[in-house]
Amino acid sequence: MGKPRSVWVSSVSIRVYPWLITNFGINVFAPSDSQWMAQALRLAERGLYSTSPNPRVGCVLVRDGKSVGSGWHQRAGEPHAEVYALREAGGAARGATAYVTLEPCSHHGRTPPCAEALIEAGMARVVVAVQDPNPEVAGAGIARLRAAGIAVESGLMEAEARELNVGFFARMTRGTPWLRSKIAMSLDGRTALGNGKSQWITGDAARQDVQRWRARSCAVLTGINTVLADDAQLNVREIGGMIPAPRGGASNPPSPPTHPSPPLSGREEGGASAPPLTRGGQEEGLRQPLRVVLDSQLRIPLEARVLYGGGRTLVYTALHDERKIGLLQDLGATVAVMPDGNGQVDLPAILRDLAQRGCNEVLVEAGSILNGALLRAGLADELLLYIAPQLLGDAARSMAQLGELTSLEQRVGLKWQDMRQVGKDLRISVKVEKANPPQSPLARGEALLP
Ligand SMILES: NC(=O)c1ccc[n+]([C@@H]2O[C@H](COP(=O)([O-])OP(=O)(O)OC[C@H]3O[C@@H](n4cnc5c(N)ncnc54)[C@H](OP(=O)(O)O)[C@@H]3O)[C@@H](O)[C@H]2O)c1
Repeated sequence: MGKPRSVWVSSVSIRVYPWLITNFGINVFAPSDSQWMAQALRLAERGLYSTSPNPRVGCVLVRDGKSVGSGWHQRAGEPHAEVYALREAGGAARGATAYVTLEPCSHHGRTPPCAEALIEAGMARVVVAVQDPNPEVAGAGIARLRAAGIAVESGLMEAEARELNVGFFARMTRGTPWLRSKIAMSLDGRTALGNGKSQWITGDAARQDVQRWRARSCAVLTGINTVLADDAQLNVREIGGMIPAPRGGASNPPSPPTHPSPPLSGREEGGASAPPLTRGGQEEGLRQPLRVVLDSQLRIPLEARVLYGGGRTLVYTALHDERKIGLLQDLGATVAVMPDGNGQVDLPAILRDLAQRGCNEVLVEAGSILNGALLRAGLADELLLYIAPQLLGDAARSMAQLGELTSLEQRVGLKWQDMRQVGKDLRISVKVEKANPPQSPLARGEALLP
């Protein structure tokens, strides 16, 4: 019969064609279904900065055309979205439809299974945006609901639900985080002057916007040259509002969508697309990303700012230098030795390691060497480009050292995702196309550098 697909029809058609669902595996959704699921997605977005390593999930319970309960998952170890929604609905949940952005869990983790809670509450129908990629769930939640006689449909707004949890899906399905490289550059694609100066190519609004991408990431990854050149702290600060919305359940008001999918001409001032956050710096509720430095020879100075301030620091190295490792550990840093056989840090290995540490999204803030290495190895998933209206000329550094390509087959294919204005700069997001990576010399990481 093939993969079930979703079709959009009027509510009248839903009554006319229910046999499609049972006989052909076709899910039929009414316009109101998509409205409720959109609301559940907006709730899920409220967990953008706080749920990892768990996914961002929202839930709305609807009975007689009205919301009777809603909620979103806020932090790992705390109740799931469905639990908040059921608590709010109480007895009104009986006979309701649940709109959930991710398949309800079926296993006992840190919290009891949500599928059981929905069954016990007497749900009549459950609409799921996307199946949970977690092997511990992976369809078992839906199967459990169906076994209890509940009508379950899935696939409504699946693309949006996947995008919201792009890192969680990457970690669960391929065992590595989603790797997003942030690159601030001039219109001629230059990221630093020949002498290494790069502060600041882009304006205040762009740099403030970067803070939001840091805040949603589990880790910020950089190369040792950037640490030596910029001595950046790489934590989340100076945001003018960067604390996740306060704890609480379903009664929290919905926030604007994170990815409103604007046209390519969309305009944004200061990264206004993310959920509203309360003002603050290091205050309660702010989750600092893990700061990760690739430093094969342990050149990092003990006074480097990345070793201090808010957040933990992880240094990957290729060198078994017990003395320097001990000194870094005394400062609170974690050091992991992962050589690649060529005297550098093993990139695929550190990504697997970061996934094992629970990292879903990793933001790369490095120079052209590391960005080039990640692209050549086929490890970069997305480029977040901040483009300033200026030219830095030939002597300035490129955005990624790819070496000389001798055939257009070797080029890195990109797919436009989003473009908007941030202050005086442009922000362009592109996904890296990975069609047939094993055939590409770039993806194989063959020596293209001169
Ligand atoms: N415009 C922007 O958005 C932006 C952002 C960040 C930095 N920058 C600028 O970029 C410049 C620094 O960039 P950069 O290109 O020289 O260095 P980088 O990309 O920051 O770091 C590269 C270094 O990482 C280390 N590394 C460890 N394992 C590696 C591996 N497997 N593959 C590649 N590198 C590995 C290498 O040093 P070892 O072999 O010694 O470990 C390598 O030289 C600075 O001027 C900084 O201001 C600009």
